[in-house]
Amino acid sequence: MTRNKITIVGAGFVGATTAHWLAERELGDIVLLDIPATETMPKGKALDLEEAGPVLGYDTRITGTTDYADTKDSDIVVVTAGAARKPGMSREDLVGINQKIITEVAHNVGATSPNAIVIVVTNPLDTMAYLAYTILSKHYGFTKQRVVGQAGVLDSARMRTFIARELGVSVRNTHAFVLGGHGDEMVPLVRYSTVAGIPITELLPPDRIAAIVQRTRQGGAEIVNLLKTGSAYYAPSAAVAEMAEAILKDRKMILPCSAYLEGEYGLREMFFGVPVKLGRSGIEQIIEIKLLPEEQEMLNKSAALVRSTMSALKL
Ligand code: NAI
Ligand code: 2OP
Repeated sequence: MTRNKITIVGAGFVGATTAHWLAERELGDIVLLDIPATETMPKGKALDLEEAGPVLGYDTRITGTTDYADTKDSDIVVVTAGAARKPGMSREDLVGINQKIITEVAHNVGATSPNAIVIVVTNPLDTMAYLAYTILSKHYGFTKQRVVGQAGVLDSARMRTFIARELGVSVRNTHAFVLGGHGDEMVPLVRYSTVAGIPITELLPPDRIAAIVQRTRQGGAEIVNLLKTGSAYYAPSAAVAEMAEAILKDRKMILPCSAYLEGEYGLREMFFGVPVKLGRSGIEQIIEIKLLPEEQEMLNKSAALVRSTMSALKL
């Protein structure tokens, strides 16, 4: 039986921690790639992680490299290459730096793994996913099903954490849907957030819900301000692992992900967080849930922010 091959581009905090979660889940063999300037660092992280296998009981092969030839014909490519936010920086500030990186990465990935499903993580997320898709579709024939951005699984996990702590219940009982752009105008959908199937509007007063919504929107900045030297990586990489598993195991999971829209939710020609069905073909369906006018209004505001970030791209 051939084993799945998962490449992670960018062996930094998010990339290496993604490798860690994926190795434990034995979803496939992993290639960790970084730039030549990092010299043998990816090899060091890969070997260290592989040597944890006997203790934890996984047989995952993990390779570190700076050469795309080693990533050839990957089933999934996770893109975490790029700079992360420093305190005081918005995700949008990263456009200039990361456009250059994502352009180079997309060309290399398209040329070496033309059949892969690509999960983009680099910020500003929706804009970088759009950039990667533009290059991969134009030059390497990728369909919109095969490029997906990670944001909503993380943002929803943060909201679920806050709901669970507020009510003193298991996180397993919680469900939350955070849609829209991965930025300060993201849209935590309160009406569709539940505990054991009960809407949180039945369980919490409006001021506590408002506080949870606000904390969710600021969830990335909260970690940046605490860490001071970089941004979150445990929860973001766990979110990527969840998406990779949904794809490789063909779970058909409904997850909030950044997807290329062509009229859904009244939006087009942009990547934006919406509920999608993730399976072996990638994004197999975009789910359109019924929104109240004020919810659609919030999505529109979030879309306007994503568009303004996209306008900083030099295409
Ligand atoms: P990091 O600085 O620890 O790692 C980034 C790695 O990318 C470095 O090892 C760097 O050498 C590498 N890199 C730079 N240029 C490259 C290139 N051209 N090819 C291959 N590798 C390259 O940063 P961290 O914390 O891992 O974050 C990575 C990215 O993910 C950032 O843009 C960050 O903002 C974003 N992020 C996005 C999240 C989301 O929810 N979408 C959540 C957390 C982080
Ligand atoms: C986060 O939300 C930095 O986008 C990253 O933690």
